Amino acid sequence: MLAQLPRTQEIPLAEWTHSMQRSVLRQMIAVVSRPGILSFAGGLPDPALFPTADYAAALAHVLATDPKALQYGMPFAPLKQHIVQLMAQRGVVCTEEQVFLTTGAQQGLDVLARLLLDPGGEVMFEEVVYTGAQQVVAPFLPRILPVSTDLAEGMNVDEVEDYMVGGARPSFIYTIPDAHNPLGVSLSQERRERLVELAVAYNVPIIEDDPYGLLQYGDWRLGDWETERFQSPSLPNRRLAISQSLPLRALNDSHVFYLGSFSKIMAPALRLGWIVAPEGLVSKIAVVKEAEDLESSALTQRAVAAYLDGGHLPAHLAILRREYGRRRDAMLAALYRYFPAEARWTEPQGGMFIWVELPAEMDAAALLDTAVTQEKIAFIPGHAFSIPGHHVHNCLRLNFSNCTEAMIEDGIKRLARIINYEL
Ligand SMILES: Cc1ncc(COP(=O)(O)O)c(C=O)c1O
Repeated sequence: MLAQLPRTQEIPLAEWTHSMQRSVLRQMIAVVSRPGILSFAGGLPDPALFPTADYAAALAHVLATDPKALQYGMPFAPLKQHIVQLMAQRGVVCTEEQVFLTTGAQQGLDVLARLLLDPGGEVMFEEVVYTGAQQVVAPFLPRILPVSTDLAEGMNVDEVEDYMVGGARPSFIYTIPDAHNPLGVSLSQERRERLVELAVAYNVPIIEDDPYGLLQYGDWRLGDWETERFQSPSLPNRRLAISQSLPLRALNDSHVFYLGSFSKIMAPALRLGWIVAPEGLVSKIAVVKEAEDLESSALTQRAVAAYLDGGHLPAHLAILRREYGRRRDAMLAALYRYFPAEARWTEPQGGMFIWVELPAEMDAAALLDTAVTQEKIAFIPGHAFSIPGHHVHNCLRLNFSNCTEAMIEDGIKRLARIINYEL
């Protein structure tokens, strides 16, 4: 009987998978892993800057001394105490009871989507958004309420208000107020305050994703050379930086879920992050997470706590800020030097990405093909980050954290050569 069943029959998958897209980011990884490509595509921290020796010592110590390190167990309270202190450095006052440990910020996002969103519900996203946020909500087949982002001040809060006044009540608003991925912009102080006020007034929670909050490098200043060339009154003002502000969670603790991560400040493979949740919701979050992976690695929680006990993080962060800050400056200087005057880009205060808008007639996907084949340069075309129906064909995301300053200067020069040729 069984043998007569057709062999080619397809296994029926859940409905939402029918609209599942292949991840452009993953396809890019295949491209950039080809030998000889100079990549501004990924979002990777520089492995040469991982705190390997200090972490290895902390890990060895935990394995040698703590019998609970390899067991199932409760979230490790001393790590939560460290996170409370880290949050204080970000200007956020919170308690250990409000801190919830996750297997990376990505899991935090997933857990919160499950906690807040009903199938077929509504979420508010910026039109250009971190792809991981789109992926966590996809199984809910949600309606996305799109909000534009301006490259000077961040998410357009007037539009958020228009939706609310019009009666919309999304399950949550997702945003990255500091060093946005992919846009590199930070939300202005005034917009932060208004966004939080709206969240409270209309009882709509905000998910504040903050993987780059501790990686801030300060304002970028034009050097003399760029000042001469670009600050002349005849040229459009392309300075887009704004000054540093407090996280949304520092402004409100009743409607803001804050997502933090050790991925960018220590190493992604730790897979360790945290949520700072509104009072009283941690026990519910715990039930959702338990269904995903029971708990985050006890070993990693203890080893990271031991690393932090050792007092290594401040010096490590200082190195990261100095190095990544230099790379940001090198990329901005090269953009000013080589890119055409018609292009615009963000001047990020921190994080790892610069967003470039090319003249409207240019197509970033076609440019990528040429850049890879002719100049062996890779980047991510902006459309990889746009929500369905929103088009950003002429934009690109450039990563500056994983190349030396010399590689950045050379790569941007080569990329500019193609752009200038195609203009
Ligand atoms: C904005 C944003 N959120 C979340 C994540 C995922 O972080 P984690 O490695 O902590 O899961 C990333 C990683 O690049 C990110 O850029």
